[in-house]
Amino acid sequence: MLNIVVCVSGGGTNLQAIIDGIKNGTIRNTKISGVISNNAGAYALKRAENERIPAFCISPKSYESRGEFNQAFLAKLKELNPDLIVLAGFLVILPEEMTEIYQNRIINIHPSLIPSFCGTGFYGLKVHEAVLARGVKITGATVHFVDAGTDTGKIISQKAVEVLDGDTPEILQRRVMEQAEWVILPRAIDEIAMAEIAGGKG
Ligand code: GAR
Repeated sequence: MLNIVVCVSGGGTNLQAIIDGIKNGTIRNTKISGVISNNAGAYALKRAENERIPAFCISPKSYESRGEFNQAFLAKLKELNPDLIVLAGFLVILPEEMTEIYQNRIINIHPSLIPSFCGTGFYGLKVHEAVLARGVKITGATVHFVDAGTDTGKIISQKAVEVLDGDTPEILQRRVMEQAEWVILPRAIDEIAMAEIAGGKG
């Protein structure tokens, strides 16, 4: 069984897609052992609580320094002991040690076709605003492993989505979520979980 910890900051629709995927069997051999949010008001925490998944808020605002926050965040991860960490709309810069400790064990969903519209400053609606400003006709989403850079890790999967006349950032964001993010993130987790079985961990 693949134990995953899902890190969130906001609405948690990708978390919901993972919860639903586990329930309906499209994600196999997987258990969410915890959800961590940096934001106490994140609706994602409510989604976790509704499913009785252990949910934790670790906010930088509760700590005197970034270093203290990083230590608290890493300590919680260690306690939850995940096989895989899923960043599902987690808008926090990761502690430096984290990508070393969990090498090839952190994945992220990004709402564009990397290497377009990614890196520092490209997150959430800002990505879709930039896509519309540039006038590209195809966008999409990417699931990738997380390394020490921002959106630079190995790409696991991508799915293209059409940009349509009259799109607003909000309309486009929703289409990218529905047609790409909620499809490829659950599928990537399932594939990693099934690879664990094949690798003998079960
Ligand atoms: C999603 O669109 C996700 O791809 C994006 O934040 C949104 C979170 O929505 N992530 C990033 O921009 C990371 N760079 P959700 O909380 O409803 O899943």
